[in-house]
Amino acid sequence: MALIALAADKGAPGVTTAAVALGAVWPRPVLVAECDQAGGDLVYRLPAAGDDDRRTAMLNPSRGLLSLAATARRGLRPEQIAEHCQRLVGGLDVLVGITTAEQAQGMTWLWGPLGRAFAGLAPVDVLADCGRLGAGSPLIDLIREADMVVLLCRATLEQVAHLRERVNALAKDLPEGPPIGIVVLADPREFRSTIAEVDRIVTGSQLPATVLGGLALDPKGAQMLSGRWGGRLDRSLLIRSAREVAATLVGRLSATPRGPQPAAPQAAGRTPWPPGVPRPDERRRAAAPQPEPDAASGAQLRERGR
Ligand SMILES: Nc1ncnc2c1ncn2[C@@H]1O[C@H](COP(=O)(O)OP(=O)(O)OP(=O)(O)O)[C@@H](O)[C@H]1O
Ligand SMILES: [Mg+2]
Repeated sequence: MALIALAADKGAPGVTTAAVALGAVWPRPVLVAECDQAGGDLVYRLPAAGDDDRRTAMLNPSRGLLSLAATARRGLRPEQIAEHCQRLVGGLDVLVGITTAEQAQGMTWLWGPLGRAFAGLAPVDVLADCGRLGAGSPLIDLIREADMVVLLCRATLEQVAHLRERVNALAKDLPEGPPIGIVVLADPREFRSTIAEVDRIVTGSQLPATVLGGLALDPKGAQMLSGRWGGRLDRSLLIRSAREVAATLVGRLSATPRGPQPAAPQAAGRTPWPPGVPRPDERRRAAAPQPEPDAASGAQLRERGR
């Protein structure tokens, strides 16, 4: 179904944490895929589900993107992905990333086919953690296949400035690429005003991107998503804000078919979401009805919050 590429420019605003938080509350079947060229973090952060409900195990670092790449040399079909995925405690399916940045050097060919396979993975949405995007990143081949790219940033001057450059570079590199959304990591005490401020900058700069909302800066919630248990994860500000962002994203995906980026906003005010002019190779879904929230997603959080 939908492929959502999550990424950032400089800094470590919290892309991996956001991918897991969104995956945990995603209202449709979902896979979190670690595609960060710098190497994955999930194996160090989160336990795998064990053989029974009470046991946990370590995620196997050899089973994931690396093992998938080894079998995909002669082509990659969506059906091949499942056997390389693992399940976290709580029920979230993940494709763990490469172990070291060096491994990425031999894998530049993979990103395009992987993006196409993710996009064809019905009925599962894929949240791809694409890490930091710099100039000339080969991940652009995966992002080209995405239904939406979501850039995360904290509301600091430098991160917003770099975000602006990244949005412009992406729009230039992929003029007919996916719509670009922005999610702001914001202090809960000034949550709405922080997001509105970034929105003003994005709109004022006439960036071809839309601010979709925010995730709470919530160190405790973030730590729980890194395997340090304690407290009720489902009540954390991070998870509560992730629910809102997930609903917004799914709403956008359902309502907006993929189309080219607008050249520039025509009128003062908000940057419009890219018009729904389907590309010739338009793959899917104009306005698919939104399924009811998947019971498993709620169960994931209940489980994790114990
Ligand atoms: N919403 C949040 N609130 C508070 N702290 C957060 C949040 N998200 C992430 N963090 C913290 O920020 C640090 C970086 O998070 P994370 O690894 O998710 O970032 P990243 O953007 O994926 O970084 P990298 O580019 O290194 O992969 C971690 O210590 C994490 O706990
Ligand atoms: Mg990361």
